[in-house]
Amino acid sequence: MKLANRVAVITGGARGIGRACAERFLAEGAKVVIADVDATRLHETASAIGTPDKVLAVVTDVSKKDQVDALIVAAVQKFGRVDIMVNNAGIAMMQDFLDVTEEDYDKVLGVNLKGAFLGVQAAARQMIAQGEGGVIINMSSINSGLANPRVSTYAISKGGMNQVTGTAAVAFAPYGIRVVGVGPGTIMTEMVDGSFIDSEATRRAVLSRTPMGRCGTVEEIAAVTAFLASDDASYITGETIYPDGGRRVLNYIVPVKE
Ligand code: NAI
Repeated sequence: MKLANRVAVITGGARGIGRACAERFLAEGAKVVIADVDATRLHETASAIGTPDKVLAVVTDVSKKDQVDALIVAAVQKFGRVDIMVNNAGIAMMQDFLDVTEEDYDKVLGVNLKGAFLGVQAAARQMIAQGEGGVIINMSSINSGLANPRVSTYAISKGGMNQVTGTAAVAFAPYGIRVVGVGPGTIMTEMVDGSFIDSEATRRAVLSRTPMGRCGTVEEIAAVTAFLASDDASYITGETIYPDGGRRVLNYIVPVKE
């Protein structure tokens, strides 16, 4: 039980990687607050993964400061404190660079980058007030450093997110708060199915750039996130860790077996 009695807030917790993190954190002994814009799915997930003494659902749009602040207040009201914050909510728009409108740009950056920034601020303020440190985890992506012009706004947001992680890590190290990132490769979730991977050809293209020859699972990302949230990672801050099947270091393509 790596996270016994810790209180964790996880945004984008209704499904996919966020839900898997919530389930893993519960299994490690934590109490979890899941937040999402999708109210129906959020409440379904909350009842599916645990009981009200361990799980709270708070409908939240992470791109709105008042809602992010209210999320932290709700977590404290229910469980008394916040030890771990996972800024996981994210969206992606597949489009050519010149087709991105100002509205599209603001939408993606608003959720992914501003949302993470607001989440870091709100969680750090609470953790500083508690005076016992904490861990903030930003769900980045391999796209933070790789250039795919079909998802320019997404890539830009995740590149910026890594600097949220770095700058906040330095700002809050004196308070014992670690700020770290997780940068998954391709994980088959509803975000990826039909967008990043929209055909057999794109699936094979992704796998041809994945030395391990397969997509990752949400459980594999949750495991890394739980490790970073735990005291096992007590000397890691400011870094983004990439569970990506070897994708980032690959400098050629590999044969696709399956
Ligand atoms: P998903 O689309 O299955 O889940 C994202 C969740 O975020 C959804 O429940 C959605 O309702 C919620 N959300 C969207 N906008 C929100 C907002 N404004 N406020 C609150 N919640 C909001 O996606 P997935 O794959 O689980 O992704 C989770 C995170 O992991 C994202 O930040 C994504 O960029 C990142 N990621 C995913 C990868 C993948 O291959 N699936 C790879 C690298 C990073």
